[in-house]
Amino acid sequence: MLLDAAAATLRRSKAIDHWRKGLEREDAEDLMAITLGVGDIGDVDVDGSLSRRERERFAANVARRYSGEPVALIRGHIVFDGLELGVRQGVFIPRGSSELLAETAVAALRRRRDPVAVDVACGAAPIALAVARRMPRAAVWGVDISKDAVRLARRNAQRNGIENARFRVSDLIADLPRQLRGTVGVFTIHPPYVARAEVDELPTEIRAFEPKHTLTDGSDDGLGLVRRLAADAPEWLAPRGHVVVEVAPYLSRSAQAVLRRAGYAVTWTSEPHAITRVVIGRLPG
Ligand SMILES: C[S@@+](CC[C@H](N)C(=O)[O-])C[C@H]1O[C@@H](n2cnc3c(N)ncnc32)[C@H](O)[C@@H]1O
Repeated sequence: MLLDAAAATLRRSKAIDHWRKGLEREDAEDLMAITLGVGDIGDVDVDGSLSRRERERFAANVARRYSGEPVALIRGHIVFDGLELGVRQGVFIPRGSSELLAETAVAALRRRRDPVAVDVACGAAPIALAVARRMPRAAVWGVDISKDAVRLARRNAQRNGIENARFRVSDLIADLPRQLRGTVGVFTIHPPYVARAEVDELPTEIRAFEPKHTLTDGSDDGLGLVRRLAADAPEWLAPRGHVVVEVAPYLSRSAQAVLRRAGYAVTWTSEPHAITRVVIGRLPG
C-alpha cells in the first residue's frame, strides 16, 4: 500500500519524465530500499514492519523525487558495469546506456600491444573506469572541462581501487600530456549533445538537476564537440586509432557524417532496444 501510494504520487509529478509504464513503481521501490539502507527490498513487508522514523524518511525521499531529483542523487551512488560510482549534483549522472560505449572501446583496444584510451568529457568517469577495469594493462586517461567532474572521477577511481586511470581538467583534448601524441588507440566521447534550442524543453528532472554544460555544447545540432574532436584527434591517434561517439539515435546519422567528412572510416551499433547509438570512426591506416 505504501509503495502503491508513493507510485501514485510520483505519477502526478510534473517534474518527472513519465516515458515508460511502471517507472514510478520502480522508483518507489528504489526509494524504499534507500530508506531502509538495503540494496533491494526483496520480500520485506514494508507495510507491516516500518517504524515511524522510517515512514517519515520514506515520505521525505518520495517528496525529493516528486520535485524531480533523480533517484541516483538521492542514493548518492550508481552501479555502472560492476563499479560503484559516487554521484553528486553538479556532475552529470552516468547512464547505464554508456556501458555499450565502454564495451566498444575495449573491443577496439584489445589487439593493441600498448593500449592507450582517452575518455573525453569523462564526467564522473563511468567509461574511463569501466575501460580501465576491463583492461588493467591499458593506460587510461579521462579529461573534462569541469573541475568538479575531475575531482569526482579521481574519487571514483580510488573508491574502486583502479590505478591505471588518470584524470585532467581540459577543454576537450587541449591539455592532454604531450607524450600521448601518436599513441592513443581509442578516444571515447559521450558529449553534451542536446541542441542549444532544445535544452529548455528537457524535463525538469534533467534540466534542473544536471548542469547545462553537461547537456549542450551550445551548438545548433548538438555535435559541436564531436566535430572538434574529429578534427583534433588524428595527431594524437596511433595508426588505425578510433574515435568512438555515443549519441541519441536521432543523431547517429549526423555523427556518422561528421566523422566521415573528417576522414574516418565509419561503422555504428544498432541494438534495436538501446537508448543510445555508438558511432565508430577509424583512421585509415
Ligand atoms: C553528457 S556528459 C557525459 C559525462 C560522462 N562521460 C558520462 O557518460 O557520464 C558531458 C560531459 O562533457 C563535459 N564537457 C562539456 N564541455 C566540455 C569541453 N569543452 N571539454 C571537455 N569536457 C566538456 C561536461 O562537463 C560533462 O561532464
